[in-house]
Amino acid sequence: MNKGLFITFEGGDACGKSTQVKLFREYVEKHPMKDKFVFLREPGGTELGEEIRKLLLSYNLDAPVPKAELMLFLASRAQICEKVIIPALNEGKIVVADRFYDSTIAYQGMARGIMSPEGILNLNRSILGNITPDLTFYLKLSPEDARARKLKMSEGFDRMEMEEFTFHQKVCDGYDYIAKLESERFHIIDARKSIEEIHEEIKQTFEEKLIEKTSQLSSDDITQQ
Ligand SMILES: Nc1ncnc2c1ncn2[C@@H]1O[C@H](COP(=O)(O)OP(=O)(O)OP(=O)(O)O)[C@@H](O)[C@H]1O
Ligand SMILES: [Mg+2]
Repeated sequence: MNKGLFITFEGGDACGKSTQVKLFREYVEKHPMKDKFVFLREPGGTELGEEIRKLLLSYNLDAPVPKAELMLFLASRAQICEKVIIPALNEGKIVVADRFYDSTIAYQGMARGIMSPEGILNLNRSILGNITPDLTFYLKLSPEDARARKLKMSEGFDRMEMEEFTFHQKVCDGYDYIAKLESERFHIIDARKSIEEIHEEIKQTFEEKLIEKTSQLSSDDITQQ
């Protein structure tokens, strides 16, 4: 077992992932283990990954075909896993990511139908090895609520946000699929709750997970002695 803790934030567009990651980051600034945290985002998180992120999100006439898009996500992920996530977890750090492979299952697997969700999982595993988050906060928001929220936002729509409504329904189905398959690591949150309520739920769940991990590590130490 690695010594670290890997936490991901997942969910469809505008469900509040980045809002919650920001609040969680502010919370950990006062945490006794504050030096142990590493924050990153997916895709991105390395110099190469950030360039790939720009390519994926910018609207242009030569948008990547679905298979190219999938490979771009995986290229970014391979880079961040080997260069950042695995070394950090081996050092006992707490890695926090805004999206990880569940997004690929939901968007490229279920919504774009490039390959089955199992196929995406296998592809991820063959490229990245068995790296799985310890805890995933899934902010669940229906396509109707997501659309209403986005209409309130004044920012322009990026390429992904211009996809039709059915696409977003499939994204939700993709998340529900993986949340059921790997239910032990998922903490599902009703994303219609207030920002503050969700933040409280996240803090509490995180602290419980930290206690669980610490006690697992100390019982491993005892077994090895
Ligand atoms: N619980 C909430 N209730 C109401 N509005 C919220 C809530 N959480 C976030 N918002 C608002 O919804 C919008 C989208 O939030 P945010 O950018 O955090 O979503 P996201 O999941 O990171 O989206 P994306 O997938 O596009 O990156 C923002 O305007 C934010 O202020
Ligand atoms: Mg975001």
